Amino acid sequence: PASTARLPHGDLSVGGVALAGLAGRFGTPVYVLDEDEVRSRCRTYRAAFPDARVLYAAKAFLSRAMARWIDEEGLGLDVCSVGELELAHAAGFPPERMVLHGNAKTPHDIETALRLGVGRIVVDSPSEIARIAALTGPGGRQKVMVRVVPGVSAGGHEKIRTGTDGQKFGLSLTDGSAQHAIARVLGQPQLELTGLHCHIGSQITDAKPYAVAVRRLVGLMARIKDNHGVTFPELDLGGGHGVAHRPGDPALDLTALARRLGAELATSCAAAGLPVPRTVIEPGRAIVAPAGVALYRVLAVKHTGPNLFVAVDGGMSDNPRPALYGARYAPRLIGRSTTAGPVAATVVGRHCEAGDVLANDVLLPGDIRSGDLLAVPVAGAYQVSMASSYNLVGRPPVVAVHDGTARLLIRRETQEDLRRRDVGA
Ligand code: LLP
Repeated sequence: PASTARLPHGDLSVGGVALAGLAGRFGTPVYVLDEDEVRSRCRTYRAAFPDARVLYAAKAFLSRAMARWIDEEGLGLDVCSVGELELAHAAGFPPERMVLHGNAKTPHDIETALRLGVGRIVVDSPSEIARIAALTGPGGRQKVMVRVVPGVSAGGHEKIRTGTDGQKFGLSLTDGSAQHAIARVLGQPQLELTGLHCHIGSQITDAKPYAVAVRRLVGLMARIKDNHGVTFPELDLGGGHGVAHRPGDPALDLTALARRLGAELATSCAAAGLPVPRTVIEPGRAIVAPAGVALYRVLAVKHTGPNLFVAVDGGMSDNPRPALYGARYAPRLIGRSTTAGPVAATVVGRHCEAGDVLANDVLLPGDIRSGDLLAVPVAGAYQVSMASSYNLVGRPPVVAVHDGTARLLIRRETQEDLRRRDVGA
């Protein structure tokens, strides 16, 4: 729809560095990450949850520099593969502050986690209990948690809701499989069960489902105490804290979440006669998404029927989120100023399918043209980490900005990189 709203345009800087200059220096598409913003979000978390352990969920975005920032800010790390684990370890991240997740951990994941000494392994299925215990070996003792499905529906899209039965993660509270797994873990001398875990979903903007999850998990803790005489020192509530990708979108209020969780834990534990466990949280997106900006060059502008298509040099290979989850973004022109009024446009990528849309029905200046630069804010999470080389388009570089300087963290994937893996005749 046409609108008379004024569009922001002209140059934009992040971390004291002009984005248009970065596009020139590193090429496009390029992802720019503001180090100070990442660090300041870590600090906001620690201030909002002073008594909790805060783990950054590496799946949102990981690089050696990112691991170092997270370490220096005093957070722990949620990893879900040997790849994440070893990269963070190579960056000097202490394994005892890592937690290993995964619904289908490979023997290599588990062996590496045990060898390096990760702090916790989160049990997601009955079959891995004996496996972790056996690999721990006699005399060893590995701290574990059990992931429970609390029966709470929350999250920004069906594909990222993990709090109810009928999806692949965790052990059900309602059919007794959580209770059964907990009993099995308690029977393994090599395993020390430090608490329950749940992760109810992602891109959640309301504190209430977390409070419901706390109530149900504390209820389960009370039953475990009655049946087995044990209480747990920890309760991990996972991540999922939602962010606004566009001005005006809802976001989760961290202070409200902290208050609500604290109140619910205190009430539920008092009612059940349980000591209040230490809370663990695992935000990924909320720490890194707002710190990232994606930059693209416009390659083609055309009218097709009623639509104005603005095609850029990236797309679903660097950001599959619109195609997967219907995610909405707010791209804007940078690098030149214009007095042209806004027009409705669809920003599409360069890939060979119609679903390769980056932003549907957004407002761009009416004189948008080939060669222009578009910046997409709030692009730091689940874009680079989910990037593919579809159509043999190399994955984009990641550049960190801080104090007016830029440095390359991850280089662009070249045609040579792509060809090198093709080893058949
Ligand atoms: N903890 C566990 C066990 C998780 O599985 C996840 C995310 C997190 C923490 C962090 O959630 P966050 O705070 O980042 O929402 N690719 C999707 C998101 C998938 C989330 C997977 N698990 C997206 O782009 O929206």
